[in-house]
Amino acid sequence: MSTFTEEKTALSPTVVEHASEGGEEADCRLHVQTKQHWGNIYIEPTPVPYYTTMTPYDYGHYHDRFLEMFTPILDKNFPDRANNLDVVEIGTSYGNTTLAYKCGLDWAGCGKVWSDDSITLVPTRTVNVTAVDMSSPALTYGLNRGIFDTIVVHDFNAYPPAALVQSLDNADVLVLIMISSYIKTLPLQRLCFNFLADRRKKKVIAYNDTCAFDSRNLSPEALFAGIKNWTTSTHFTKHRNFTESESALRHGCKESWSYTYIVTFDAIEVDNVNVH
Ligand SMILES: C[S@@+](CC[C@H](N)C(=O)[O-])C[C@H]1O[C@@H](n2cnc3c(N)ncnc32)[C@H](O)[C@@H]1O
Repeated sequence: MSTFTEEKTALSPTVVEHASEGGEEADCRLHVQTKQHWGNIYIEPTPVPYYTTMTPYDYGHYHDRFLEMFTPILDKNFPDRANNLDVVEIGTSYGNTTLAYKCGLDWAGCGKVWSDDSITLVPTRTVNVTAVDMSSPALTYGLNRGIFDTIVVHDFNAYPPAALVQSLDNADVLVLIMISSYIKTLPLQRLCFNFLADRRKKKVIAYNDTCAFDSRNLSPEALFAGIKNWTTSTHFTKHRNFTESESALRHGCKESWSYTYIVTFDAIEVDNVNVH
């Protein structure tokens, strides 16, 4: 487990620091310096500051759209909701995306659960969630609330620890939502390729990018070039409203938008399993 420090939660400096590491690539296409710094909302003991800070910017709109797009794809690929699904989710924060696919909760539903610890979660699908984030308080909260099953405090730009590699290898579903502007391309691909190492079963990856803060081509065609047997469901959706200072840097534009890709990798015969 890596050590969590306050500097690392100052998200812009963290990414700038990674971008200056050199060696892997120049991440000049990550425009996180022009993204609002939200202070300590990711490292408070509860998600309430995160929820009350983000709700006025209509962050819940994306959450609700993600719930609508992801649920039918999970149902189509894994129709038996009682059949345990192993999920690895990267950048979970306090677990709002998790609550969407695990309990069918929209943003308002997350707000209710997060503001009242006496509310019991009612899963609509049996999932075993390994949650990865560098915020120990967020992960601890989600574990204690029964949102996550296993937590890994980890900087996702670093090499994944062996136990996480194993979890990725075993998993049916990999979720990376609202983290693209914080992750370099090679670490992103490494997580995906660890997940895709064993193609003997069907696997699904859900990820998105936020175009205003990240001008890389992260389409599945680019990320999974050379990988066999996948199809994507692609959605262009509002991410949230810009803050005033973000808007001022963008000629007064009001909304940040996002591409979401839900990619299904069908199983490959064992004889052909060596695909990358
Ligand atoms: C915008 S929140 C996303 C939360 C949730 N997935 C959602 O869709 O709303 C971004 C999360 O990424 C985490 N994060 C940012 N940079 C990180 C890094 N380098 N390693 C691990 N986690 C990081 C933050 O702690 C935060 O919880």
